[in-house]
Amino acid sequence: MEQFSRRRFLEQSLSIVAGASLTRVAHSEPTYLPKRSANERVNVAVIGVRSRGLDHVGGYLGHPEANLVAICDVDENVIAGAMLAAEKKGVPKPRYYSDIRKLLEDTSIDAVSIATPNHWHALAAIWAMQQGKDVYVEKPVSHNVHEGRIIVQTARKTKKICQTGTQIRSMKGSREAIEYIHSGKIGKVTIARGLCYKRRKSIGMRADTAVPAGVHYDLWLGPAPVRPFNSSRFHYDWHWNWNYGNGDLGNQGIHQMDVARWALNKNQLPKSVVTVGGRFGYVDDGDTPNTVVSCFDYGDAELIFEVRGLETDGLMNAKVGNIIYGSEGYVVFTGYDEAFAFDNKGQQVQHFNGGGDHYGNFLSAVKSRKSQELHADIEEGHLSSALCHLGNISYLLGHSQHSTDRVEGFEGDAAAMETFGRFQQHLALNNVNLREVAYRLGSKLKIDPRKEEFIGNKEANHLLTREYRKPFEVPAKV
Ligand SMILES: NC(=O)c1ccc[n+]([C@@H]2O[C@H](COP(=O)([O-])OP(=O)(O)OC[C@H]3O[C@@H](n4cnc5c(N)ncnc54)[C@H](O)[C@@H]3O)[C@@H](O)[C@H]2O)c1
Repeated sequence: MEQFSRRRFLEQSLSIVAGASLTRVAHSEPTYLPKRSANERVNVAVIGVRSRGLDHVGGYLGHPEANLVAICDVDENVIAGAMLAAEKKGVPKPRYYSDIRKLLEDTSIDAVSIATPNHWHALAAIWAMQQGKDVYVEKPVSHNVHEGRIIVQTARKTKKICQTGTQIRSMKGSREAIEYIHSGKIGKVTIARGLCYKRRKSIGMRADTAVPAGVHYDLWLGPAPVRPFNSSRFHYDWHWNWNYGNGDLGNQGIHQMDVARWALNKNQLPKSVVTVGGRFGYVDDGDTPNTVVSCFDYGDAELIFEVRGLETDGLMNAKVGNIIYGSEGYVVFTGYDEAFAFDNKGQQVQHFNGGGDHYGNFLSAVKSRKSQELHADIEEGHLSSALCHLGNISYLLGHSQHSTDRVEGFEGDAAAMETFGRFQQHLALNNVNLREVAYRLGSKLKIDPRKEEFIGNKEANHLLTREYRKPFEVPAKV
């Protein structure tokens, strides 16, 4: 097993000479390095190895183009799974680091694969690229809009490969369905609907406790404010707390948000966003909504996203999927690797299915040094993640209301009103009557897609970034 490549040695030497630092962007010229030879393996480290990270571990351990050389997790209690997986494969155990900064000093590592909570994604990706590593970063790539753009700029400046963990982009079935849509087979696409109908139960209400032994809690918090330890904000459940997660729009939803934007072929932010929603059906420690409708206006097309965390049936056989409507027909994505095309009479005309290897796509781009070969380059990840953040910002700046008679921001938009009607029916079926229970009606926010900012709304612009706790700061500029 090759642990230390000549290319890596050259690259690390150059980045050290250039003075790349962990806390600021390297202002050196990008390094132009010889391509890897076809039989050279990429030395990968996985950062965050609990749940999704174990899938990364398995993906690289089983891959003929990779060596899993190191892992990093701030919880010493979770690393056994990765060690066991290596042992079962009969390969040496990966080196273990609890602090990402120490791991990034390891010059034998070519690439890192990041599966930490969302509030760490951008920082880990940016630091890694500044230290000369290529990056695979889980979705959503950012915790806010600003840091997503900074990751893209860092990737371009350092000439690093940066893949987003939206693996649907590597699935044959989905790729072919998108190609079908882009080639005009359903005519002009007017609406892309994303569905995240996924039951989410209450996480309960739990008391703060001492930090469990083996957990480096200050590192887990990273850029977020210091708070006492509480398991309802820790492993996995952090998704439902704004300090670390982005609710289900930025959890399951980002996958279908990405497919919706991909189908629309829009490579910039929309002109406006408006969101309604609430956390219905239970009172618990979570603070993100479990039920959402977000509408994004692109001028000539609309993206409508629905999150349902309570019991629900699917829509046109899709629960976690997409429906893309064109003038001549529509396409329903029912899973990550399967979609069906219909004509306007509802007759099925095409079936797409088949999987793919997203880790493999990353590894081959690392070897070819061609980011255009990535199926989910970081720019795609940033734009789709940003949509989730915009939807959440509208929600956060909304006001509570009971009445469903006037739904400002949705009015005059037939598709949005139809979706709002189904939102009410769905809640009623779960014994949530919006005349008795308040919901949040978001402000309709105008966006300047070029600047990636809201127009004339200071409060909304303030939410495009966060206050970073030193020294865990995403730079304001690259
Ligand atoms: N692409 C997919 O299909 C998919 C599926 C599931 C999750 N995800 C994404 O993967 C990420 C992880 O999700 P999860 O369910 O595994 O979360 P998790 O909370 O179960 O695991 C995260 C792990 O990261 C560790 N960690 C936290 N901060 C760290 C740091 N600074 N350095 C090193 N380790 C750190 C934690 O201790 C934990 O072990 C999330 O961003 C999620 O959105 C993607």
